[in-house]
Amino acid sequence: MAAARAARPAPAELRTGALRRDPDVVHAVTENRRRVPSHCRNVRAMDLELDGKIAVVTGGSKGIGLATTRTLLAEGARVVAASRRPGTALESLAGPDLLHVAVDLMDPAAPAEVVAAAVRAFGGVDVLVNNVGGPPPGATLPRFSFMAGDDADWQSMFELNLFSAVRAVRAAVPCMLERGGGAVVNVSTGSARAPGAMNADYAAAKAGLTVLTKALSEEYAPQGIRVNTVSPGPVRTPWWTDEGGAADVLAAAFGTDRDSLLTTVAPEAMHLSTGRRVDPQEVADVIVLLASPRSASTTGADVAVDAGFLKQT
Ligand SMILES: NC(=O)c1ccc[n+]([C@@H]2O[C@H](COP(=O)([O-])OP(=O)(O)OC[C@H]3O[C@@H](n4cnc5c(N)ncnc54)[C@H](OP(=O)(O)O)[C@@H]3O)[C@@H](O)[C@H]2O)c1
Repeated sequence: MAAARAARPAPAELRTGALRRDPDVVHAVTENRRRVPSHCRNVRAMDLELDGKIAVVTGGSKGIGLATTRTLLAEGARVVAASRRPGTALESLAGPDLLHVAVDLMDPAAPAEVVAAAVRAFGGVDVLVNNVGGPPPGATLPRFSFMAGDDADWQSMFELNLFSAVRAVRAAVPCMLERGGGAVVNVSTGSARAPGAMNADYAAAKAGLTVLTKALSEEYAPQGIRVNTVSPGPVRTPWWTDEGGAADVLAAAFGTDRDSLLTTVAPEAMHLSTGRRVDPQEVADVIVLLASPRSASTTGADVAVDAGFLKQT
């Protein structure tokens, strides 16, 4: 998406008229017109119109959040990525348009601190991606039985997967209203719509997030804020691939090795139509499209990026 935009001349250059008179450019434009069917000539190319927008991405240093941060930067947005540590992958994106805020988002004050940092550094917030989630510290998912978790486990699961988003929205909405609107994208999970016996606490917290999306979309649409959910299926992120992560836990349960688990056993057990787990970039692309003003009529939606996991729901 960014590559297509980069290939176009900048508006300032166009205004000078110099490029319009350049014979090569005239030739290219004429050639392009020949290729575009007449009924498509008034269609705007897929510029996501995120250039200069200010985005906050929670859990922005790894997996889906890292891919979202990278994509937003490529689209010209200024990004505040929040996580406990920056990590080398995020550090490799360092530049004037990226700020990392080191916070534990389970701390009730942290989401507002992240939003305040965006206002201080870049002047406001247009986009909020509530991506942080998964197992809280000390927990390993999957959990195979409801009885495996006590109240403290449920509370920390809800702190990370639901309350961090509640608090981030509470802090970001006034900033968005000041700027005339904005977009919130909440990263839930397919299990919120199709819960199984595993991970009841996680699915319940994410179901709360999915419901929150719908309620917020109804309240704030008249004021220009759109709120949507993206529900991934199983995604190849550090949550799965880290030592002792989901792949190792499931490999032990299925009596297989982690590579077979990742490439064949899990996709088959989850009936993934595509036969493979989702790439983080494929989730990020949908998040960024929903964050874009080009999705102006999409609000309250729950978009699955799930390799077909939810096809029967
Ligand atoms: N991967 C999947 O299969 C899958 C499927 C469905 C839904 N999802 C959802 O997608 C979202 C992203 O998942 P992922 O797999 O990309 O996760 P991931 O690879 O484990 O990355 C998690 C990110 O959140 C940060 N983080 C974790 N705990 C934090 C805390 N207490 N405070 C601040 N930052 C914290 C991590 O950085 P630090 O560790 O440095 O803090 C990292 O940047 C989650 O909401 C998850 O529930 C994932």
